[in-house]
Amino acid sequence: MESLKSRKTIRKYKQEDISDDLLNDLLEAACRASTCGNMQLYSVIVTRNAEGKERLAPAHFHQPMVTEAPVVLTFCIDLHRFSRWCELRKAEPGYNNFEWFITGAIDALLVAQTFCNAAEEAGLGICYLGTTTYNPQSIIDALQLPDLVFPIATITVGWPAENPSQPDRLPLKAIVHQEVYHDYTAEDIDRLFAYKESLAENKQFILENGKETLAQVFTDVRYTKKDAEAMSQALYEAMKKQGF
Ligand SMILES: Cc1cc2nc3c(=O)[nH]c(=O)nc-3n(C[C@H](O)[C@H](O)[C@H](O)COP(=O)(O)O)c2cc1C
Repeated sequence: MESLKSRKTIRKYKQEDISDDLLNDLLEAACRASTCGNMQLYSVIVTRNAEGKERLAPAHFHQPMVTEAPVVLTFCIDLHRFSRWCELRKAEPGYNNFEWFITGAIDALLVAQTFCNAAEEAGLGICYLGTTTYNPQSIIDALQLPDLVFPIATITVGWPAENPSQPDRLPLKAIVHQEVYHDYTAEDIDRLFAYKESLAENKQFILENGKETLAQVFTDVRYTKKDAEAMSQALYEAMKKQGF
């Protein structure tokens, strides 16, 4: 439990490989995660070679971890393999819909996070790349994903070459509700976000971006409605193109 409590994202890695044995061991442990109906609705694409990383880099807005990490893992929703099995066994699959897309996403993310827990336990550092769902079509093309396979999470993995301080979290009472959901009063929000708003780096963010509040840095700079709507459209189109 202590290693989970002290974990943090690592974005800089040593120029040192991860052996096939270790990687396979971690992936095998990850595949022990719970999975809907024991159907294992996921695939993991391992990118180790430089050309492969260069092909993925633009989709991830050239975040340096993609080309600098020894291993990049793309976790995909995969309804293809199970559907193929059904078709070859005189069974008619009905898995090309939104419900199974979500179930595949849950399966794939459980494997991804279990992999991260195991990797961090082994001393490796990881970073999730949210850009996976910003530019899904370019990742689908780069990794040659067939129908009913869709990238949902990318993780860069390597031996840590940095030791950043651990980011803040909201207090547990902001997150956990006893018995039923208790909505937040304005005073609750003030209290629960006070620590985050008091941090020097967050005050600096507000100054640098010429904003009045930290929330505005999120809504107006980091994650805007306009960008999210364009990405939603691209996501929807890529889902349809993949047969969902
Ligand atoms: C869905 C998701 C997407 C993320 N995308 C990125 C990303 O594109 N680039 C990055 O540097 N970190 C990314 N991260 C890492 C978060 O920034 C990081 O987990 C968060 O700031 C908390 O820091 P910690 O993991 O060290 O506690 C992502 C994490 C998640 C779960």
